[in-house]
Amino acid sequence: MKKIAVYPGSFDPVTNGHIDIIKRSISLFEKLIIAVNANPNPAKPYLFSAEERVEMIREALPSSPKIEVESFKGLLVHYARKKGANFIIRGLRALSDFEYEFQMYLMNKKLNPDLEMIYFMTSQQYSHLSSSVIKEIAKLGGSTINFVPPVVEKKLLEKFGY
Ligand code: PNS
Repeated sequence: MKKIAVYPGSFDPVTNGHIDIIKRSISLFEKLIIAVNANPNPAKPYLFSAEERVEMIREALPSSPKIEVESFKGLLVHYARKKGANFIIRGLRALSDFEYEFQMYLMNKKLNPDLEMIYFMTSQQYSHLSSSVIKEIAKLGGSTINFVPPVVEKKLLEKFGY
């Protein structure tokens, strides 16, 4: 069976922490699908459209036949099945991520017991990064150059008019 993994997330926007997880996980799979959540999220409206988020990830990554980037709507387990994926990748930072990730793991397992979820611990240099903090820094005029790929920094500057 082909080893196909989906790495889902909001990626609003993608950070160097996400890119690190992608680079570390790619060698383990025959195909890695980066899946940008396009379901509306009223609790946390997105800054970037799904198309913009997909485009930024594509630009930030070296092109590889093993990597696919697209957006998805609906349940993750349904999307993974449609793509023939047998693994889900997630990154873990601090302990605070754990409860949310554990709940999502249990629920996805209930919905599709055949799907295995694999967790990557963040590399230390990225443990402080989150898309929310990046957006706040950019909004308030701070530099995000050390935290996100250059294409994202440019888009943030455009978005906030600096
Ligand atoms: O980067 P995020 O916001 O932590 O990613 C969360 C994401 C997109 C992985 C999660 O919200 C998700 O899988 N959404 C798709 C809808 C779904 O399947 N919800 C049930 C999850 S148990």
